[in-house]
Amino acid sequence: MRCFARFHALPLTLLALSISLWGAARLFAPHCGSIPVQAAELKPIELPKPQVAGGMPVMQALAARHTTRAFAERSLPPQTLSNLLWAAFGVNRSRNVKSGLGRTAPSAHNRQDITLYVLLAEGVYTYDAEQNLLRPVLAGDLRGVGGGASKHAAVTIVYVAPSKDDYAQVDTGFIGQNVYLFAASEGLNAWFYALHGHDAAAKLALDSDHSALYAQSVGYPPQ
Ligand SMILES: Cc1cc2nc3c(=O)[nH]c(=O)nc-3n(C[C@H](O)[C@H](O)[C@H](O)COP(=O)(O)O)c2cc1C
Repeated sequence: MRCFARFHALPLTLLALSISLWGAARLFAPHCGSIPVQAAELKPIELPKPQVAGGMPVMQALAARHTTRAFAERSLPPQTLSNLLWAAFGVNRSRNVKSGLGRTAPSAHNRQDITLYVLLAEGVYTYDAEQNLLRPVLAGDLRGVGGGASKHAAVTIVYVAPSKDDYAQVDTGFIGQNVYLFAASEGLNAWFYALHGHDAAAKLALDSDHSALYAQSVGYPPQ
């Protein structure tokens, strides 16, 4: 009888161990809702502190904002990447007990549900705005996830949200416009576009309850 109990205890122990490991993985995952298939060779990228002064006056940036679907094959300096992501959806106010983090774009119910997947030549990262760093998700160059010239852009940002968030499209629009205005101010090209959601979600290894809504590629103008 004791033997029988031991025989059954082993699979149960293994099951409990797997559940605990899965739970721990979720705990340390970025708060984007997807389980990262973390590439061992990629390390988190600490971004330089964003420069939050300067740039073009807002009326001039609005006058210059436009879509351009062509890019030079040239990466952004870390400072420019940091500034871009901060402009997109960075933290612009200290944490408030009631409302949490203040961000550069509004969000319905202040849910701050949109996760920026940052696709660089070296891999895919998520933007941790509070820590100002990029958390690795996948190795490999997926910048061209949207097709066309996006593969040459310095960075492609994919906007990922919980599929059940009815306001996610609106929230994404605010972030996308921030990116357009930053690009205009810096003389960078920018292109916001729709994705084949299922294909993009599979490539980015998203959880089934998350969607890749849109993407936006940013980079230097071709020579
Ligand atoms: C919700 C949304 C979806 C878009 N999808 C695409 C797209 O799939 N492909 C594309 O080339 N451009 C796309 N665009 C860019 C628009 O075509 C572009 O903004 C429009 O032609 C106006 O040009 P402008 O941004 O230079 O003013 C999209 C823009 C928005 C706001």
